[in-house]
Amino acid sequence: MTPPLEIAPPRGKLGVLLVGLGAVSTTTIAGTIAIRKKLAKPIGSLTQMGTIRLGKRSEGRSPKINEVVPLAGCDDLVFGGWDIFEEDCYAAACTAGVLEASLLTQIRSELEAITPMPAVFDKRYVKRLDGPNVKKGKHKRDLAEQLIADIRAFKQRHGCDRLVMLWVGSTEVYLQPSAVHQSLAAFERGLEGSDDAIPSSMVYAYAALREGIPFANAAPNLTADIPAMLELAERTAAPVAGNDMKTGQTLIKTIIAPGLKARLLGVKGWYSTNILGNRDGEVLDDPESFKTKEESKKSALDYIFQPHLYPDLYKDLCHVVRINYYPPRGDNKEGWDNIDLVGWLGYPMQLKINFLCRDSILAAPIVLDVALFLDLAKRTGMWGIQEWLSFYFKAPMHAPEVYPEHDLFIQLMKLKNTLRYMKGEELITHLGREYYD
Ligand SMILES: NC(=O)c1ccc[n+]([C@@H]2O[C@H](COP(=O)([O-])OP(=O)(O)OC[C@H]3O[C@@H](n4cnc5c(N)ncnc54)[C@H](O)[C@@H]3O)[C@@H](O)[C@H]2O)c1
Repeated sequence: MTPPLEIAPPRGKLGVLLVGLGAVSTTTIAGTIAIRKKLAKPIGSLTQMGTIRLGKRSEGRSPKINEVVPLAGCDDLVFGGWDIFEEDCYAAACTAGVLEASLLTQIRSELEAITPMPAVFDKRYVKRLDGPNVKKGKHKRDLAEQLIADIRAFKQRHGCDRLVMLWVGSTEVYLQPSAVHQSLAAFERGLEGSDDAIPSSMVYAYAALREGIPFANAAPNLTADIPAMLELAERTAAPVAGNDMKTGQTLIKTIIAPGLKARLLGVKGWYSTNILGNRDGEVLDDPESFKTKEESKKSALDYIFQPHLYPDLYKDLCHVVRINYYPPRGDNKEGWDNIDLVGWLGYPMQLKINFLCRDSILAAPIVLDVALFLDLAKRTGMWGIQEWLSFYFKAPMHAPEVYPEHDLFIQLMKLKNTLRYMKGEELITHLGREYYD
């Protein structure tokens, strides 16, 4: 056992800065306020409801996670953020249409008090959107400095002790890493020259990391996952996590696929399609934004099935992912998966999944958990990529020398073992020989 890490206590208020006050953000904010007022329960949130086994099974110690590690409480959170639309959070939550009016009216004044700061936005990176609440600047460096001024003013205005920032904005167009992303010096020159390879999301991430604020990317766009940002995160000791929250269809995929693989059932094909009618669905209807999402959604199966180790079972897997924008459904996504399986002696079988889910209802507890765990990481002196938060992401950030871990159950074990490690508790191996010796 290693000694516990020194964790600074979560004193005072934690400011949670959300870039993009759309469906996911408003559902997170409204949900947290409703939970604070005991109007609803934090279902889906590990930080609020999860327990963690400590020590041997025979010890019977399974406290709540938030009693083991010092997390900021829901009462201590102050929300703020940016959006290209001027609507306050109450109006934005009504537009998003996720939560019922009967709940929203009970917390209306708290939501109306949260108004978006003017955004850093360029339509070239999100083609289906345009809005009036946008900053002007000489170049991207100037815009980053304006964001830093917003961050400092927010912190002072609300008397926050600490801050975290999450990109919960629309999915930007597909970008690949290029020269300007390779070092902080190149990136800062790129900001001054308003380089096209720096989308709006990177300007926010840069501003957060410059201030030493933990940053997470809840969407799939290329944002913090570049050497320049990691260099900055190291310099300012800021934790980073991402990318793309694992919610509906991909969550189910990373629950089912490890099970099939564990029993060595082959998979010839996996066809996933869904209908979605919210603004996210509209943005993803643009092929360039969809390409970003598709790349993020497709990677999980390859890593879980390891076709290089199991060529007989997974080598020629045909994996297709579709998203169809269908307005009548709003945020209530319906996903269909058809899995063509192969069993003993090569006999084919099929598995069909029909998930009638709610996108933002699945995403909100993740935003809350990631915000609280990133703040914990910062107070524990952990900076750079927080791989233990892979549990929450479709395309988890990872060190270049290792592959990303996609199996939800390994991810959960990694997360809980990290918490045990922080507290100097024994890591759980599930060996259990001692009961039979
Ligand atoms: N809901 C889920 O299950 C889920 C899962 C994984 C990822 N995501 C991603 O999370 C993001 C948010 O999803 P959503 O359903 O809330 O979408 P949404 O369209 O309702 O909200 C996104 C908001 O971001 C704003 N925005 C866009 N660019 C901005 C910028 N540069 N600065 C400030 N604001 C900006 C938009 O105006 C909009 O209000 C999307 O990228 C989505 O793909 C969602």
